[in-house]
Amino acid sequence: MLRLLLLLFASCTLGTGENLREKAVEIMTTTPVIDGHNDLPWQLLKQFNNRLSEVDLCKLNNTHTNIPKLKAGHVGGQFWAAYVPCDTQNKDAVKRTLEQIDVIWRMCAKYPEVFTCAKSSSDVKQAFQEKKVASLIGVEGGHSIDSSLATLRIMYDLGVRYMTLTHSCNVPWVDNWRVDTGEEVALSDGLSSFGQKVVLEMNRLGMIIDLAHVSVKTMKDTLNISRAPVIFSHSSAYAICPHRRNVPDNVLRLVKEKKGVVMVNFYNDYVSCNPKATLSQVADHFDYIKKVAGYEAVGFGGDYDGVSRVPEGLEDVSKYPDLTAELLKRKWTEDEVKAALALNLLRVFQEVEKVKNSLNNTFPDDEPISIDQLEGSCRTKYGYTNGGNRLQLLSTVLVFFLLYFLLL
Ligand SMILES: *[C@@H]1O[C@H](CO)[C@@H](O)[C@H](O)[C@H]1NC(C)=O
Ligand SMILES: *[C@@H]1O[C@H](CO)[C@@H](O)[C@H](O)[C@H]1NC(C)=O
Ligand SMILES: *[C@@H]1O[C@H](CO)[C@@H](O)[C@H](O)[C@H]1NC(C)=O
Ligand SMILES: [Zn+2]
Repeated sequence: MLRLLLLLFASCTLGTGENLREKAVEIMTTTPVIDGHNDLPWQLLKQFNNRLSEVDLCKLNNTHTNIPKLKAGHVGGQFWAAYVPCDTQNKDAVKRTLEQIDVIWRMCAKYPEVFTCAKSSSDVKQAFQEKKVASLIGVEGGHSIDSSLATLRIMYDLGVRYMTLTHSCNVPWVDNWRVDTGEEVALSDGLSSFGQKVVLEMNRLGMIIDLAHVSVKTMKDTLNISRAPVIFSHSSAYAICPHRRNVPDNVLRLVKEKKGVVMVNFYNDYVSCNPKATLSQVADHFDYIKKVAGYEAVGFGGDYDGVSRVPEGLEDVSKYPDLTAELLKRKWTEDEVKAALALNLLRVFQEVEKVKNSLNNTFPDDEPISIDQLEGSCRTKYGYTNGGNRLQLLSTVLVFFLLYFLLL
């Protein structure tokens, strides 16, 4: 009798795990995950020099991401990173970023039955209904616009829907997280005055502001001035793992106030502050952000194919349902799970679109960054030198008069 009871008990607990996985899949069939950051385009550059014709995304097997894994993972939306490294800054950053945007568009075109390039929240919802992966473009690092608001605007026109203000390097107008570790010196004390203009121009355009990779002061400055909610596309909780790429509690509370989203990064080093990590430790970040900022502030930002180590149980993009099941096991309600999977990000996206619409009678900011803030020897100075600058004209006139009186 006891044996029978034990057997029954064992099969019930086993059954619960199975049921939660099934429940997760059931939820994700209508509300698939929108992930904040995936570096497959970077793999396409590194491994194939962007020769997509040589790649079979159904069979690619040395990446975290391929088409069968995306399907198994119930991925319904993905921000693909148009990432180029910091050493392109002041060199060919803009061209290389355009090439990464191009390869994302070509990926959508090559597999139209799998991907659909999305530019709006309604495009994403449409893709959900068609069971396709809504493919969104995120530019990772302000170095990609080379301090040019015109370049920012044109990238918006090319479909870019978020920009991370920095990667792991300062940009002339904004500081990155490495100033908080002492590896780099703060140049802008957060956002410079030009940095504030970039943020407001992103609000005007309807481009989501991403604060992954930035310094804590930049986070606070941006949360202060942005008219729209912001995201962290791939960052975890600092209180759980004190790495400067993660989000500290006081900022989590500001994100809550601003109705933004922190999309949890799965990179072991940001999850456990250790080369090894587990799915359960990733779920700890979900629980923690929920506790501090509410379930409305939680999202998924795997960073797949951008990192060398991922947790046990989250080996590739097919594993999202396992994490969803873990949240259910931790008593997240179905509504809370759906919010984290997709609805929180959609809410932010819609709010960003609303702010854009409310600013639709305002003009593009056409004031260039001042020339002395730019570095790099291959830069020309057209527009800055030929009398266009009134201050320069004024100082020339002053010097002329000074010389005139001195000579008298
Ligand atoms: C991975 O893909 C390559 C190239 O298509 C193929 O040669 C290899 O056998 C595959 N490996 C596995 C483990 O499937
Ligand atoms: C931004 O910060 C300043 C001072 O630090 C404060 O006076 C202002 O109210 C803040 N603005 C917003 C929108 O929070
Ligand atoms: C600007 O937005 C308002 C409110 O959303 C709308 O009524 C108006 O038609 C828009 N104007 C233009 C030029 O798009
Ligand atoms: Zn990153």
